[in-house]
Amino acid sequence: MSEQLVDRFGRVHRDLRISLTDKCNLRCTYCMPAEGVPWIAKQNLLTTDEIERVGRVFASLGIDEARLTGGEPLLRPDAVDVVRRLAALPTSSGQTDGGPTGRGRMRVSMTTNALGLAGVMDDLVDAGLERLNISIDTLDPERFHALTRRDRLDDVLAGIRAAQRSGLRPLKLNTVAMRGVNDDEFVDLVRFAREHDAQLRFIEQMPLDAGHVWSRAEMVDGQEILDRLSEEFTLEPVGERGSDPAEVFRVDGGSTTVGVIASVSAPFCGSCDRVRITADGQLRNCLFARDESDLLGLLRSGGSDADLAAMIRRSIGDKREGHGIDGPNFLQPDRPMSAIGG
Ligand code: 5AD
Ligand code: SF4
Repeated sequence: MSEQLVDRFGRVHRDLRISLTDKCNLRCTYCMPAEGVPWIAKQNLLTTDEIERVGRVFASLGIDEARLTGGEPLLRPDAVDVVRRLAALPTSSGQTDGGPTGRGRMRVSMTTNALGLAGVMDDLVDAGLERLNISIDTLDPERFHALTRRDRLDDVLAGIRAAQRSGLRPLKLNTVAMRGVNDDEFVDLVRFAREHDAQLRFIEQMPLDAGHVWSRAEMVDGQEILDRLSEEFTLEPVGERGSDPAEVFRVDGGSTTVGVIASVSAPFCGSCDRVRITADGQLRNCLFARDESDLLGLLRSGGSDADLAAMIRRSIGDKREGHGIDGPNFLQPDRPMSAIGG
């Protein structure tokens, strides 16, 4: 029996999120202040070699999917190289479901804002990237500009078209649902996704904003999203969700599906199989963890692979049952989403 990362609640961890950089070429208001945040010093970023090494150790512990996030992962000059190296890692879980890279290799995916994606799409596919999640919150150029503080909707749309052409499937588009910002666009966004052979996934806004202005009362919850969509489409629940945080629905009986990620109102912590590494090499067992384990420090002070594995096991062992966003004692993490990695 190969090794697995199991926590106190029996959750088996398979999915590693690696933040490649905390920098971003957008400034989404729910994520970053206009001036940005104090960036991680360059010498504290994991190097390409360190990412590969950490990935290898995780692969030996039963992790078989690596998702690259940010900030914006494509801002890392070595993004394609990272994909290539991770996609070559043999996994111990024996459980990959046979993507193009074949059985028993790390599956590599990426969450990106798609700026600059068009130019590297072919290279990413060639390097072994299997799946893409693209963030798009609005289809209106002026709204996009106001929300992201950058006038670059056209570049995102070019990135989405490149992703569509790449043939990587399922192609997922992520939309954070926001009252007064895009809550009148949900139907249009689903139609847009359908036209691009993509699955749109609406995400409840979580308290991860740098400005700490999130309010539960203001949040558009999953039920409201579904009510809004149901006025236009027939939605039919699709099968078992497993560790997928999205509840998925078939749209109008066709091949298009739409997902709702109700992280706040219907937490899926019970089936969480994720573990994260920040761009500065800190291990986080939850998006909302209050503490981190210093993998970078261990790597750079001569820690062995066995030492790294021990630190990873310890962190997973300490994982809490849930994030408790809806509870009275909830504390927002000290770091914004851009530093933790989606
Ligand atoms: N709540 C929900 N989703 C968020 N994202 C960023 N910040 C938040 C938040 N506060 C999304 C991004 C992207 C993914 C990585 O997480 O829009 O789609
Ligand atoms: Fe950049 Fe994503 Fe944060 Fe927007 S949400 S500023 S795209 S890291």
